[in-house]
Amino acid sequence: MSDFQTVAKVGDIPEGEGRSFPVNGTMVGVFLSAGRYLAINDFCPHMGASLAEGHVEDNAVMCPWHAWRFSLQDGTWLDNSRSGIRTACYEVRVEGDAIQVRIPPSPTATANPTPSPAASCQPPSTHAG
Ligand code: FES
Repeated sequence: MSDFQTVAKVGDIPEGEGRSFPVNGTMVGVFLSAGRYLAINDFCPHMGASLAEGHVEDNAVMCPWHAWRFSLQDGTWLDNSRSGIRTACYEVRVEGDAIQVRIPPSPTATANPTPSPAASCQPPSTHAG
């Protein structure tokens, strides 16, 4: 069963930026970084800022409020990757000109300080266009 949901069209998200979209009641930040679409939970685990409004660089986003940096590939808090703090990440695909995000059915790892064994949000086939 595919539960990917269309959130935007190719071209809606400029390179090096993010946009937030509601998917199944979760705000998802979708980013275009180096030609790849990447998606993480838009809610910063620190104090809840929208990560989609942050600065994107090197497959990471810097929170616009207090500058914590998160990996767009697995949601890890890059400033202290040993802390276990991370935000959820999600699979993204492009179907035609539709950018689609899949959120797993069970709620896991949203602002959860417990390390997750394996973040499997990014298969290597999410090129723009
Ligand atoms: S709310 Fe994101 S770093 Fe503080």
